[in-house]
Amino acid sequence: MDQPGIFEGPAESSGVPPVQIIAATRFLDRIMGSRRMAKSMTTTLRSVKERLTIRRARSTDTPHVIALDARITGLAKPDYWQHEFASYSEQPPQECFFLVATPADQPEDSRILGYIIGEIRAWEFGSEPCGWVFALSVEPDARLHGIGQALFAAISAKFKEAGVTKMRTMVARDNRLHLLFFRGEGMMAGPYIQLEKELN
Ligand SMILES: CC(C)(COP(=O)(O)OP(=O)(O)OC[C@H]1O[C@@H](n2cnc3c(N)ncnc32)[C@H](O)[C@@H]1OP(=O)(O)O)[C@@H](O)C(=O)NCCC(=O)NCCS
Repeated sequence: MDQPGIFEGPAESSGVPPVQIIAATRFLDRIMGSRRMAKSMTTTLRSVKERLTIRRARSTDTPHVIALDARITGLAKPDYWQHEFASYSEQPPQECFFLVATPADQPEDSRILGYIIGEIRAWEFGSEPCGWVFALSVEPDARLHGIGQALFAAISAKFKEAGVTKMRTMVARDNRLHLLFFRGEGMMAGPYIQLEKELN
């Protein structure tokens, strides 16, 4: 992990050398400074959170999700998304959640502001049933107004309603935005680690 102390709990308790703590603190100051600036520069979307609807995705959302994902990741994956929608409509609705955020005052098929996808998985490698979040995206021009937080809260509530007491996700070690977001929502390093190998 290249930013010790950000994701895995207080740096003081993780044995991180002081120089790394200073680097992590400087990094946080820098990113929080630019974030404050972004917040003060955008006033029109300030009350987006209050005017948000979060609902289950419908097939009419597919083109909006494909477009949003392509804008964020730089890669259009229409086949993947068509498959996701098809498979979600076949899964038990109390275990799989594909939620979208839309402006409350806009028509049903309006553009979406963000989405979150997750499902309850049981007994993978002996793990008790828990909620997994495996995709989350917010429209770049609508960020920093609580939409990500609202989507996260909505899927957390769904997981709780379904009876699980834990949720998990996976983030790239070098994706500071994802780490800051999920850490801000109270997620900490869990008991499992991911392993992989090149197949030559
Ligand atoms: C991560 C992401 C979902 C956050 O959405 P958002 O609507 O901007 O987040 P919110 O406004 O709800 O912020 C919630 C918290 O996250 C943290 N956060 C969000 N953006 C941040 C940023 N740019 N810098 C620092 N902290 C940030 C803060 O702790 C914030 O809480 P606060 O406002 O009380 O300080 C959004 O930036 C995103 O979609 N990123 C791209 C995700 C992606 O790559 N998806 C494709 C693969 S799945």
